[in-house]
Amino acid sequence: MNEIETQLQEEQQAGLASLERVADPQALDTWKQTHLGKTSLVMTTYGKMGTFSKEERPLIGRAVNAVKVALEAALAEKEEVIKHEALLSSMASEKLDVTLPGFLPRRGRLHPINLTMREVFRIFGDMGFQVYSSPEVETDDMNFTYLNIPPYHPARDMWDTFYTEDEGVVLRTHTSPGQIRSMREYYPNPVRVILPGACMRYEQQDQSHEIEFMQFELLVVDKGVTFAHMKGTLDDFTKRMFGASAYTRLRPSHFPFTEPSAELDMACIFCGGSGCGVCHGTGWIELGGCGMVHPRVLEYGGYDPEIYSGFAAGVGIDRTTLLRYHIDDIRYLRNNDIRFLEQF
Ligand code: DAH
Repeated sequence: MNEIETQLQEEQQAGLASLERVADPQALDTWKQTHLGKTSLVMTTYGKMGTFSKEERPLIGRAVNAVKVALEAALAEKEEVIKHEALLSSMASEKLDVTLPGFLPRRGRLHPINLTMREVFRIFGDMGFQVYSSPEVETDDMNFTYLNIPPYHPARDMWDTFYTEDEGVVLRTHTSPGQIRSMREYYPNPVRVILPGACMRYEQQDQSHEIEFMQFELLVVDKGVTFAHMKGTLDDFTKRMFGASAYTRLRPSHFPFTEPSAELDMACIFCGGSGCGVCHGTGWIELGGCGMVHPRVLEYGGYDPEIYSGFAAGVGIDRTTLLRYHIDDIRYLRNNDIRFLEQF
């Protein structure tokens, strides 16, 4: 081992030993200058590399690198220790350290269903509709009978639900009972409301069915309301919700509380109508049911069907949310997975 290598080894020992005694940031700075600064043995040895013989150069190079690495590693460790000690002593001496990073509150956000609901409110608000809230626990009469579904009517099977222990009280299966409640409150004035909220059905749960879901009902009652008003309103809503290129069709259907009745379909926004997995190859996606309010339902609401007419619709808010955000399983909406909810 030549003289320089010996010197380097001594320097490493001396450097590590003196670092042990360093106890504050100033001393650490001085140590850094002495052992790794411009005039340190390590740095000056690098500067003199050219003066060594060809044989010596790799040996000395390796030796100086090893010393530098060892000193730097020890320095990094010491820096951490000193920083921590400085923090502890500042915490002990000052009660409030405004330089400490604060704790950010976790920010909440709206559920995608609520985002959709607010958009529904905004759209219909612009069209002059009011929001009318109506109970989720309903009487059998409101949920069925006054909507022209008398006891033992087979249509009740379509809306099987949860019955409570109170005779004649059910969890509502649709927002339609709000039609009766709002008509009774508004009579004899015109009605132009949306009725949003939760509905329950006895369902087999799968990718597109849940036992609990949100719906909004649309109801307009006045003199001279026609099917064309309904078609225009629903098409306008669809365009405002899904973009100007969205378009709809009405498909003949049957509901006991409307006559005539229709299903509102929107041309599939995923494939543009040519057929894909989402629309099951049909090119159309069902948004809800609609129709002209049945004369008997108008009567139950207090309006004379000889003088007044109206239209109604029921649209799924969960379904609309899935389409708006391209979500492929309705069950995500209610299983409270933070990773899902944080995306909105
Ligand atoms: N209540 C129906 C359901 O939940 C949807 C519906 C259909 C509502 C036609 C309406 C309507 O107002 O006119 O399945």
